[in-house]
Amino acid sequence: MSLSQLARTIKESATLKLNETAAQLREKGEPIIHLGGGEPKTKAPIDAIINCVALLNTGEIRYTAPDGIPALKKAIIRYTEEHYKKLVHANNVIASGGAKQALMVLLHAILDPKEEVIFPAPYWVSYPEMVKLAGGVPVPVTAEDGTFFPTVKEIADAVGSYTKAIILNSPNNPSGAMYSKDFIQEMVEFCEKKSIYLIMDDIYNRLVFDGKSAPNCYEFAQEPLEESKLVVINGVSKMYAMTGFRIGWAIANKHVMEAMATIQSQQTSGPSAPAQWAAVGALNGVQSPIESLRVMLENNRNVMMDRLKAFDGVKIHPPDGTFYCFPDFSAYMKDSQRLANFLLDKVRVVAVPGKEFGFEGHLRLSYCGTIRDITEGLDRIKWALDPNSANELYLGDRKLVRDWQ
Ligand SMILES: Cc1ncc(COP(=O)(O)O)c(C=O)c1O
Repeated sequence: MSLSQLARTIKESATLKLNETAAQLREKGEPIIHLGGGEPKTKAPIDAIINCVALLNTGEIRYTAPDGIPALKKAIIRYTEEHYKKLVHANNVIASGGAKQALMVLLHAILDPKEEVIFPAPYWVSYPEMVKLAGGVPVPVTAEDGTFFPTVKEIADAVGSYTKAIILNSPNNPSGAMYSKDFIQEMVEFCEKKSIYLIMDDIYNRLVFDGKSAPNCYEFAQEPLEESKLVVINGVSKMYAMTGFRIGWAIANKHVMEAMATIQSQQTSGPSAPAQWAAVGALNGVQSPIESLRVMLENNRNVMMDRLKAFDGVKIHPPDGTFYCFPDFSAYMKDSQRLANFLLDKVRVVAVPGKEFGFEGHLRLSYCGTIRDITEGLDRIKWALDPNSANELYLGDRKLVRDWQ
């Protein structure tokens, strides 16, 4: 079959692929524990559902403005004022089909062929592929000291004449690590000085633990918004557990927004109307679902950390937020893909190989499921990896026997 060069170079989303594999195995009755997931299991806020159903009940579900309905833009403006202390206008806002589409349209709006986009490793699996889809070149930066925190100097050293943008995702998927206030401040200042786009992917910035809060990039911006190359990405998927609605947004200067709206109008004509009304409901409604989710995730994180301490060889940076952690399993197996395959094969636990996030030897483990998923999943992993484990393990009435070392 004749496919484009681009189609042949883009990798399928590793995490979505894993969901598919897990679902297929479950359908066959396999006792799968899915620690690879990327979405909260709580229900969408009732205000989102009410708003969405109200539109559906009218039976008149039409195209909307390509960059979002005024009510949603208004809700995003209010959200930005409340949580970023930043006043923006409707022409600084675009609503898209998820934060993912907001990022993709943004990259199409700013990148010329071969221009580079820098991001720290470990990084969200989609960044390299999205940059390539937009004709750009992804440039991951790995900290020399092996941590999840490249220094400003390490990032600055990767900047060259082709650099168009830097993406920061904090707290971070997959590590759960949050960059410090100093780091964000220096990055904002650096990008202003170099006139590089700084894209803040803030999709997890409300899901932060231990009484901390995510640094607000606007606090450090000197340039007025209309001259600034600072772009903030956010959405309802994670904080309101509304992944299936597919609503995210971007905030930037009006020239970038105009370009994004034009591109989006030709791509999809705009986000789905019922989903936009649901997002309005979530943003304007009772906000307690975010805190309930955050508290539950913090508790799950603690349970996962406790369980991981039982492993002799695992090194772990406790996550500051998100619903992921990213332990170093290299003492057991250096090839993370082999390790993930081994765990799925032997004990039916799904974990995402660190390689997908540009960081070998690690596995991304999610704690967005139930406590039982976490404890049983980690018990199974420990049984599979620890040479001192008992010879047998029961999954329900199925007996597993260790026939490996
Ligand atoms: C870092 C990061 N950014 C953006 C997204 C996309 O979110 P959305 O569901 O709004 O497209 C995800 C989803 O996994 C993510 O992990």
